[in-house]
Amino acid sequence: MVEAWYMDESEEDQRAPHRLQPNCAVSLEQLRSLGVVYRKLDADNYETDPCLQEIRRAENYSWMDIITIHKDKLPNYEEKIKTFYEEHLHLDDEIRYILDGSGYFDVRDKDDKWIRISMEKGDMITLPAGIYHRFTLDENQEKWRRQQQELSAQP
Ligand code: LAC
Ligand code: NI
Repeated sequence: MVEAWYMDESEEDQRAPHRLQPNCAVSLEQLRSLGVVYRKLDADNYETDPCLQEIRRAENYSWMDIITIHKDKLPNYEEKIKTFYEEHLHLDDEIRYILDGSGYFDVRDKDDKWIRISMEKGDMITLPAGIYHRFTLDENQEKWRRQQQELSAQP
């Protein structure tokens, strides 16, 4: 299930959760009032998923692109990671669907406060044209890397 919260002000480590203490949760309704629409889909079957086909038809999403955000799979990885996290906006909606893994989309609310939206496999989000936003991977890749290291360190 997707979760969202207001962020603290710390500039350190973009992949950390940056929750306020105590946590200040943001509901799907609050997100919707900003024009941010969340959906849960069946990522294992995205190639044939009738729901995805219906969304694409109804909302006229004629184009799609799949990227893998991994240092071995994405050309100019470091540069891209940096660009994704630079606050920006688009003239069209931004629709992102997580087929695997996880990360954070941050959006600014009407008072310019940052909301962090935690997205994982099967989560689809629509950010409306003109909303300030940015994206980062979360700490899960690090955890995964550590686990791999621990596994490979075992005799
Ligand atoms: C994009 C995301 C990173 O523009 O906001 O693709
Ligand atoms: Ni964007």
